Amino acid sequence: MKVVYPGSFDPITLGHLDIIQRASSKFDEVVVLILNNPSKKVMFDVSQRISFIEEAIKNYDNVIVDSYDGLLVEYLRINRIDSIVKGLRAFTDFEYEFQMALMNHYLEPDMETFFLMTSNKYSFVSSSMVKEASKFGADISALVPKHVNAAIISKIRGDNQ
Ligand code: PNS
Repeated sequence: MKVVYPGSFDPITLGHLDIIQRASSKFDEVVVLILNNPSKKVMFDVSQRISFIEEAIKNYDNVIVDSYDGLLVEYLRINRIDSIVKGLRAFTDFEYEFQMALMNHYLEPDMETFFLMTSNKYSFVSSSMVKEASKFGADISALVPKHVNAAIISKIRGDNQ
């Protein structure tokens, strides 16, 4: 089965990568899909986010990255995919993810969303938290891939100049 793992991935974290790795061992093919979340202001443009993900997934031969400017269900329909995978961190994620899954199901009743519980060690990790901590000088190198850590640091330095 081919599944889409959608998100903003601004930028990809080790929590995302944990979900990608686990999804890739259970599904035939995983498409990591960068979409717009209108409620978020991004740090990296789509092409940068794609290249961060490409570097992070290079050892998985059944994982690819793509982006789409529109509805997730539209992308799924165009590409003839009917399944979504999402990571669920804490209880606080549940309400938002539940609503999103129901909305997607309403828009496209053939679509199903599968949830993977985030590994305990990444349960507090989010792109927003990582960016915020890094802006205040915290070391977030254990929470994101190496190349992403370097990119966040240089972005913050550049913004502060
Ligand atoms: O990583 P995020 O920001 O939680 O991911 C949310 C995302 C990008 C998956 C979601 O905002 C999304 O699906 N955006 C595309 C538009 C869409 O299909 N929205 C859902 C129905 S309103």
